[in-house]
Amino acid sequence: MNKINFQILYEYNRIPAIFEKSTTSLWDDEHISKGMLEAHLDPDCDAASRKHDFIDASVQWICDQTGISKGQKILDLGCGPGLYAERFTKQKYKVTGIDFSKRSIQYAKEQALIKNLNIEYLYQDYLTINFENEFDLAIMIYCDFGVLSNEDRDLLLQKIYEALKPGGKLIFDVFTPAKYTNYKSEKSWEYQETGYWRPNPYICMHLQHIYHNENIHLEQVVVLDSNEKIEVYRLWDHFYIMKTISEVLKKAGFKDLGFYSDVSGKKYCNLSETLCVIAQK
Ligand SMILES: C[S@@+](CC[C@H](N)C(=O)[O-])C[C@H]1O[C@@H](n2cnc3c(N)ncnc32)[C@H](O)[C@@H]1O
Repeated sequence: MNKINFQILYEYNRIPAIFEKSTTSLWDDEHISKGMLEAHLDPDCDAASRKHDFIDASVQWICDQTGISKGQKILDLGCGPGLYAERFTKQKYKVTGIDFSKRSIQYAKEQALIKNLNIEYLYQDYLTINFENEFDLAIMIYCDFGVLSNEDRDLLLQKIYEALKPGGKLIFDVFTPAKYTNYKSEKSWEYQETGYWRPNPYICMHLQHIYHNENIHLEQVVVLDSNEKIEVYRLWDHFYIMKTISEVLKKAGFKDLGFYSDVSGKKYCNLSETLCVIAQK
């Protein structure tokens, strides 16, 4: 009879240290990035980008709210396949989109060519940007801010601050504790013939955990595939309330903070699962 090494299963199901890294990149995996791009492009799916009707409303609200003029420059951090970048460009803004998913950036560049849109797309980790006084607006949309450790978050805010012109604005969103009200720590597993994580048969061990003192949620997926490879994907989310995010932004030098429930300008409510923040340099 075959023996199962339970020690390995225990090891992979331990609660990791906060912000412990994945064993490999999720974003540039050939199979996973394909599924992710499909999710971005599905107009009725909220998984990777928000539904496209929402994005239309969001772009319009951001233009109105920030009062930036046509021709001014927008930095789109984590632009994905360019859903926001394209819309802002059609409204006559000059957009630079940055993303470290090769597939998304490749798709975004192809679309810009096809649609004759002049957008600068960079395949780059946004933690490595080095712009100075260049942009009128920086956006970082769909709660990507929360995936950052405190050190990376502060570094990124410093880089965004440097990238903005004086008076330039930053708009981003984060998840709030309300998103996790009904979540509890749990572990489960499943077997798939083919699916989101692998094209071939695989076993997936899921772990969900909330680090209550730090306001951090972890979704961990351990994938054992038919090549007997084991990879661990960790999706971190540091969730914030108005007070905690204000402290972080003020420390980074931002002022005149404004708060909404989402990036389409829904009025602030402390029960909302998301919090949209506008800050000024
Ligand atoms: C949740 S998606 C949102 C995409 C886009 N903002 C939207 O709303 O359609 C987050 C995006 O951020 C990108 N991303 C995450 N971390 C990044 C990093 N350190 N540098 C550059 N891009 C990053 C991912 O590749 C992904 O495309």
